[in-house]
Amino acid sequence: MKRIGVLTSGGDSPGMNAAVRAVVRKAIFHNLEVYGIYQGYNGLINNNIKKLELGSVGDIIHRGGTMLYTARCEEFKTKEGQLKGIENLKEHGIEGLVVVGGDGSYRGAKALTEHGYPCVGVPGTIDNDIPGTELTIGFDTALNTVIDAIDKIRDTATSHERTFIVEVMGRNAGDIALWSGLAGGAETIIIPEDNFNMDDIVGRLKKGQERGKKHSIIIVAEGVMSGQEFAQKLKDATNMDTRVSVLGHIQRGGSPTASDRVLASRLGARAVELLMDGKGGRAVGIEENKLVDYDIIEALAKPHKINLNMYKLSKELSI
Ligand code: F6P
Repeated sequence: MKRIGVLTSGGDSPGMNAAVRAVVRKAIFHNLEVYGIYQGYNGLINNNIKKLELGSVGDIIHRGGTMLYTARCEEFKTKEGQLKGIENLKEHGIEGLVVVGGDGSYRGAKALTEHGYPCVGVPGTIDNDIPGTELTIGFDTALNTVIDAIDKIRDTATSHERTFIVEVMGRNAGDIALWSGLAGGAETIIIPEDNFNMDDIVGRLKKGQERGKKHSIIIVAEGVMSGQEFAQKLKDATNMDTRVSVLGHIQRGGSPTASDRVLASRLGARAVELLMDGKGGRAVGIEENKLVDYDIIEALAKPHKINLNMYKLSKELSI
């Protein structure tokens, strides 16, 4: 393999830049040429493809977002779009592609693989919902953003002796809610992977108040319902007045943490190694701090699993 491409796709995540840098530098280190595909799969279809040099990825390791830009591309879900993308790659002499993104991006990479084009998926999303890896690039940074917000909300919640509901992202996965709730000492964590029981929640809130607790923080994953809807349900059950904070897209920004930069560097470089070894159709990940890779089609067929032991622990620690 002499020439590879790299793109970022779907919702951006902090550390995507570090992954792109790793792909470019690792490839050039091994005398490959690297092309950047701009604006995700849109750029693949529209031929927005440019050569990247060592300096193209200088001064980006610490920046959130993605220098390659990103998009959610409906057209790439069609066979025509996918074949057009492959045609453009071939026109540039690009023989393999690294796709950094979440599950939608992986589905695009899977489609390219099924058309016989060598592709490696690198998990980049704040949601931590990609099968075949314990952690995704951007998750740790998003968690730190959320716990910073929880800590601040806690100050005002205590002063006013209030209950706060904090809505976090995660699409259909509860990982951001669970990990940030555990790290932020939330009283209750509501995730899509488990049904919640309002009587139980109310009971816990009352017990806390009885022993002199000044505030409560409830984390609601967006995949369950909005924070506002949950506040209404709580009001209906208790007449309790709460405040709601929707953290929204601030969870996707910011300088990546050291963990995310290291993870991105390791995964990006591994993706290049796989392409150099002629192994397309793979998804790279990390398990027990070791790099792993799986068949991308098989990986996508597996459901994402939340850590239920951690969920149980969060309940035990918030009595
Ligand atoms: O997948 C990342 C994510 O931030 C999800 O947590 C969220 O549901 C979604 O993207 C929001 O997407 P958009 O930025 O397109 O509104």
